[in-house]
Amino acid sequence: MMRTTMLFAVGLAGCLLAHAATAADPTYARSLAATCFTCHGTDGRSVDGVPPSLAGQNRDYLLKQMQEFRDGKRPATIMHQHAKGYTDEQLALIAGYFAAVTPGRAAAAPAVR
Ligand code: HEC
Repeated sequence: MMRTTMLFAVGLAGCLLAHAATAADPTYARSLAATCFTCHGTDGRSVDGVPPSLAGQNRDYLLKQMQEFRDGKRPATIMHQHAKGYTDEQLALIAGYFAAVTPGRAAAAPAVR
């Protein structure tokens, strides 16, 4: 019984530590934002602005757009699917990440060998 209680306590502490590590992980925001790079370009610098570059955009604007896509308030062809499932905290991290990126040209794709 004592042993089971100890194991439970150790397991619970592990879960709490893992959660704290995720929230404090400096790469967490970039990991979330990286799912957007495929279309919006690496670090949100899209090629010729299609779809719009996210790099350097206003944080509050980005957060509001994502919430509206997620909640079905802003019509979209694709974005309503990519905004689903995120919490407000995660969307705020994503918006903060892109707002902090210096806008610029998309990096050239690596040469095909
Ligand atoms: C499959 C391609 C694709 C992916 C992946 C994608 N987007 Fe988009 N994004 C679009 C398109 C296309 C639009 C134009 C709106 C529409 O038709 O859906 C858009 C529009 C937006 C806009 C509105 C820009 C503006 O100027 O108003 C924001 C903000 C945005 N995306 C953020 C994101 C974020 C954040 C992610 C990652 C969680 C993401 N997008 C992932 C294709 C994509």
